[in-house]
Amino acid sequence: MRQIQEAERIKNLPRYLFAEIDRKKKELISKGVDIISLGIGDPDHPTPLFILKRIQKALYNPNNHRYPEYEGASFLRKAVAAFYKRRFGHNINPDTEVLITIGSKEAIFHLPYAFLNNEDYAIIPDPGYPVYGISTKMIGANIHKAPLLKENNFLIDIDNIPPKILKEAKIIFINYPNNPTGATADEGFFKKLVKIAKQYGILIAADYAYSDITFDGYKTPSMFDFDKNRDVSLEFHSLSKPFNMTGFRIGFVVSNEFVIDVLKRLKTNMDSGAFTAIQEGAEEALLKGDKATRRMVEIYQKRRDIVVDTLQKCNISFFYPKGTFYVWAEVPNGFSSISFVQDLMEKTGVIVTPGNGFGEYGEGFFRISTTINDKRLKEAMQRIKNFLS
Ligand SMILES: Cc1ncc(COP(=O)(O)O)c(C=O)c1O
Repeated sequence: MRQIQEAERIKNLPRYLFAEIDRKKKELISKGVDIISLGIGDPDHPTPLFILKRIQKALYNPNNHRYPEYEGASFLRKAVAAFYKRRFGHNINPDTEVLITIGSKEAIFHLPYAFLNNEDYAIIPDPGYPVYGISTKMIGANIHKAPLLKENNFLIDIDNIPPKILKEAKIIFINYPNNPTGATADEGFFKKLVKIAKQYGILIAADYAYSDITFDGYKTPSMFDFDKNRDVSLEFHSLSKPFNMTGFRIGFVVSNEFVIDVLKRLKTNMDSGAFTAIQEGAEEALLKGDKATRRMVEIYQKRRDIVVDTLQKCNISFFYPKGTFYVWAEVPNGFSSISFVQDLMEKTGVIVTPGNGFGEYGEGFFRISTTINDKRLKEAMQRIKNFLS
């Protein structure tokens, strides 16, 4: 019998980082270890009730049982435009400049399919959300890793990207507030990036998954504050984090008419859109959800303070985040990212994410996610403290 084989592109595909952590976690649980996972960034609070009620009602509407509108329901695209006006002060056309997606991961994964030929480059942040690079490599295009370094406050050093790469790059992925580092970008960064992107014709793919999870009064600006006509930028938004809706799989992309049209062409050939009942819930969230997001942000800010307080006491260096629900910290001397995470997991039952899981420049760091209730978070931090002393 001839063996069934996977395609080459799948052979080279790493196991998804969190799948590995999950496997190890299950193994320890089966041994009776009391695990506290600060590994995955998945909100621990439920989706707000007003959103659930709308979805519940929408579930029984037979119209919603049929194929959704591929580019997203027009009521949701209108809600996106209303949200944009309220949140960022920008007018966007809901018919031509918005695309509803099945979470932002789907949209991020598909972007390279729509804009890269084999010889092209995508510039990706390292450390960074793994999907940018995996998708690019999967279609046979090239990646250029832009290191996020502590000395640059984890911003991409645009001046350090070789001109040869800039000439061949068609996409640059950015993500501020940043996963995994928690870094936020300033106006100077955005302005310089837009200037370079226009000069070389590079699409700025701005991952806004954490744009509204920000602290200490920091407000994430829109890319379109700096690229007024949306010539070279696109924003991926997600309802997952601001509304605790990771399980529902809903997000959206905003850009100019051309970029949205290209993505639409790809998407209508690949999937049939998001369940309309969930789109109704998303409309509810975007129109009425500001207060719910603010409540979550207060919770995450307090949790950040719990984490940084302990790290300070343990003399662990970390980046003080103004956004996301992550804290990015340096492993103590003598450890690699992996050896620290494994030792910590085995000796204390606390799971954190090894920095190198986000790319080679993440080596020497680990990421703490605060998507766990305060009591367990305090317990975990106490265990980390005991471990380090
Ligand atoms: C940086 C970043 N972008 C995008 C996503 C995808 O979010 P979703 O597909 O739930 O919208 C995540 C999820 O963790 C993320 O961390």
